[in-house]
Amino acid sequence: MTDLGRRVAEAADLVTVALDELLPRGEGPESRLTEAMRYAALGPGKRLRTYFALETGRMFGLAERSVLRSACALECIQAYSLIHDDLPCMDDDDMRRGRPTVHKAYDEATAVLAGDALQTAAFEILAHPDTHPDGAIRAELVTKLALASGAKGMCGGQMIDILGVRDDIGGVARMQRLKTGALIACAFELPLVMARAKEAERHALLAFAHDLGLAYQIVDDLLDAEGDPEKMGKAAGKDAAKGKANFVTLLGVDAARERLGLLQEQTKDHLEPFGKQAEFLRASVDFVLERRH
Ligand code: IPE
Ligand code: IPE
Ligand code: MG
Ligand code: MG
Ligand code: MG
Repeated sequence: MTDLGRRVAEAADLVTVALDELLPRGEGPESRLTEAMRYAALGPGKRLRTYFALETGRMFGLAERSVLRSACALECIQAYSLIHDDLPCMDDDDMRRGRPTVHKAYDEATAVLAGDALQTAAFEILAHPDTHPDGAIRAELVTKLALASGAKGMCGGQMIDILGVRDDIGGVARMQRLKTGALIACAFELPLVMARAKEAERHALLAFAHDLGLAYQIVDDLLDAEGDPEKMGKAAGKDAAKGKANFVTLLGVDAARERLGLLQEQTKDHLEPFGKQAEFLRASVDFVLERRH
């Protein structure tokens, strides 16, 4: 395994152990809910948002314990968004992370509730004094995560996805920015808030995150068109079948791949101001975008 591969795997282990401690274990009938939450959140995700948060925390010399709690909050939102994304009323998927989706393993009502409760768990974790000693910083973290997850972020993007974008690449880019880019950008934003980073640093890193998030969803769409469902742990071929508009269904595989290549280089350029400090983030661009799952 490369150094970078090891760092990503370590980040995944750290966040899974931390989430295992933080997520509730219910007693009585509500234990069905807490089991479903744990099933979704502790499953084998790639944990790339965690990796980005931890790497940004290292660049700014932040305490790992604090950044890890932010990563737990991000992964709760990620798990919730995937549970709901897979529901029959949304993408209607049976497999996620190599296992039955939550509504298949449990039932639809449990899946809706598990998503809801993971969302609130994210804010409970962020708002706890262990995340940061300064209450004003904690309030800012909560605001940033709320913006990234809600109508101006992930949920807004999911709404556009469901309504469909017609033959308009600008519209697709906007949808991708909201549904996927906002939460990925938040993985950088939370440590930037904790570090009280300078405006120029914030600007450069968020420009990086923006391009990376867009490229990340293009890879997801390419994998949907031509990936191996076994490796991905989820179905392929669904976007075209459902008539979804994305870079691949609108432009075709070759043009989408070309756009991805340009974006991949442009993304790295944003890290220039950070020099050697951003060595691992720079390397992670190819690592993340050349993924097969
Ligand atoms: C899947 O995200 C949905 C998108 C936003 C593209 P990931 O590919 O990061 O999924 P996990 O968390 O690793 O399962
Ligand atoms: C979902 O995008 C993005 C979310 C906000 C959950 P997709 O619907 O393409 O994600 P997959 O392919 O099911 O993972
Ligand atoms: Mg979807
Ligand atoms: Mg989906
Ligand atoms: Mg997809």
